[in-house]
Amino acid sequence: MQLTLLAFFIIFSLFLPETSPAKLSGECYKCHTMHDSQDGSKIARDGTAIGWDGNNITGGSNQGPMNFLLITNCVGCHTSKTNDETIHDPGGLNIPIVFNTGGYPTTNALAGGNFFWTSQGSTYDAYGHNVYGIAAKDTMLTVAPGRQGGTCGSNSCHYSLANAPLAQYDNKAGCQGCHVYTSHHKNKGWYRFLKGHSDPPFDPGTENNGDYVIGKGDTDWEKTKGSEDHNWYKGTSVPYKSPGSSTHALETYKTITSFCSGCHGIFHNQDTISGTVYASPWKRHPTDILLPTTGEYSAYKPADVGGYSVEAPVAWLDPLNPQAGQAVVMCLSCHRPHGSPYPDMLRWDYSTMIAGDDTKSGGCFTCHTIKNDAP
Ligand code: HEC
Ligand code: HEC
Ligand code: HEC
Ligand code: HEC
Ligand code: HEC
Ligand code: HEC
Repeated sequence: MQLTLLAFFIIFSLFLPETSPAKLSGECYKCHTMHDSQDGSKIARDGTAIGWDGNNITGGSNQGPMNFLLITNCVGCHTSKTNDETIHDPGGLNIPIVFNTGGYPTTNALAGGNFFWTSQGSTYDAYGHNVYGIAAKDTMLTVAPGRQGGTCGSNSCHYSLANAPLAQYDNKAGCQGCHVYTSHHKNKGWYRFLKGHSDPPFDPGTENNGDYVIGKGDTDWEKTKGSEDHNWYKGTSVPYKSPGSSTHALETYKTITSFCSGCHGIFHNQDTISGTVYASPWKRHPTDILLPTTGEYSAYKPADVGGYSVEAPVAWLDPLNPQAGQAVVMCLSCHRPHGSPYPDMLRWDYSTMIAGDDTKSGGCFTCHTIKNDAP
């Protein structure tokens, strides 16, 4: 290729919208086993306590060959038996790690957080979603708080993500309570495989429904991060109820908040959404509303260079073309979806959010910029 053409190509590719980097690469044998047999030994590992230990998967046991001829299950391939290695690379695979069994990865945790604390027994139930293969059922929460509507039973993911997979739910549980369908070899435009299952659950064809989240994923899942180096999420400013309206919110808006609302419905519903009432005074913290550009909120300018906070992030009306005045408050403005070092899976320590104390900053004060002003 001519040098100028090459330069043009490189510059052009920098601006190509990349809705999701999910499309893996690497030698087949590192992830698949054709016969679950090599040199007379069985390869596939299922069960619990599986993870990468250097270049090998250890733990669990052979329970026969697995779906898609894989060498292990979701948890197994996305676990590292270290404390800080959050992208595992056994020779060109770049596997994003969501569970470090050696400790919470304080500096390198990926955007979703990490399941380490939830794996440490019931004392830490509130530090993450209790997920099948990692933690037992939450001892305090026996249903997703804010659950509303739907016909799924108490053995489903709407009550506990630690429930075992059942044929009734297409054998999906745990990780697949949220990443219901995966597409590792093909980019289908689903942000991080966040895909709903529509009603009735799991009927044939549900995989092709439009009920998925869109966004622009950071290529290293925010292992390195900063105000110019992060994920871009989809939000909306259209009032909706989820569930509880005739439109399927996730299918219609494709926002991260409408996704969480599939299990925590009334936490998005504002109570004040009836007719045109959609404003302060709020009864629950609002989500999928525009971040105002006036008053105390005007000091948070996430669209400006250096203005975005990865600690208290926002979504966008158009994540591929983020504009000032189009930032949206979302569930992930305050929570990590997998787990965090704080109760309620918060992105920061809530006990350090003290009104009238100007030595405090970040967290809630990222948006409520004057609430730490000294009296
Ligand atoms: C044998 C290893 C392996 C197994 C098993 C596996 N994954 Fe992955 N997964 C990967 C790799 C590698 C990537 C990174 C792909 C890339 O480079 O973008 C990935 C990426 C992902 C992502 C992030 C997608 C994105 O947009 O960046 C999610 C979510 C995910 N996997 C969930 C799952 C779930 C759920 C299961 C079980 C159904 C599963 N994985 C099973 C290896 C695996
Ligand atoms: C880094 C791990 C990894 C590598 C390397 C890998 N795969 Fe896969 N493959 C997966 C995972 C995980 C799935 C699970 C299903 C899904 O998410 O679509 C899968 C599913 C498949 C499927 C069924 C679903 C589909 O998309 O068609 C085929 C076929 C397949 N792989 C073939 C291959 C071949 C051939 C190679 C080598 C050229 C290869 N894979 C390399 C992880 C891997
Ligand atoms: C498939 C259903 C499902 C989805 C989707 C879901 N959750 Fe949950 N969530 C649950 C269940 C069940 C619990 C209670 C048991 C537990 O904590 O594991 C829960 C608990 C929580 C808790 C309290 C944690 C604790 O243990 O005290 C928070 C916070 C939370 N979810 C936030 C979110 C956010 C943010 C999203 C979107 C990224 C989300 N959830 C999506 C099912 C879901
Ligand atoms: C409660 C819903 C939920 C459950 C359960 C869940 N995830 Fe996720 N996952 C998410 C969300 C939401 C994101 C996107 C986070 C972001 O971009 O800020 C995500 C992101 C990811 C990523 C990309 C890396 C990152 O941190 O952004 C991988 C890989 C992944 N999940 C794998 C898994 C695996 C493996 C499991 C089971 C052990 C699992 N997830 C369970 C909601 C969930
Ligand atoms: C402004 C920050 C913020 C936003 C935005 C937010 N939350 Fe929370 N969430 C919290 C805090 C703080 C708590 C601790 C309990 C409380 O103060 O009510 C919490 C608690 C929770 C709990 C645990 C409730 C329990 O009974 O233990 C769940 C579930 C939850 N949030 C889900 C969500 C979902 C789903 C969304 C989006 C629709 C969301 N949150 C948006 C800050 C937030
Ligand atoms: C991403 C930005 C953002 C973050 C982070 C955030 N908030 Fe908010 N908050 C808002 C917006 C926007 C409103 C609605 C303002 C309006 O209607 O004028 C709001 C409303 C509120 C209200 C109700 C105000 C009313 O007029 O009814 C309270 C109370 C509140 N937030 C407390 C908190 C606390 C506590 C935290 C930290 C746990 C927090 N917020 C984090 C953006 C944020």
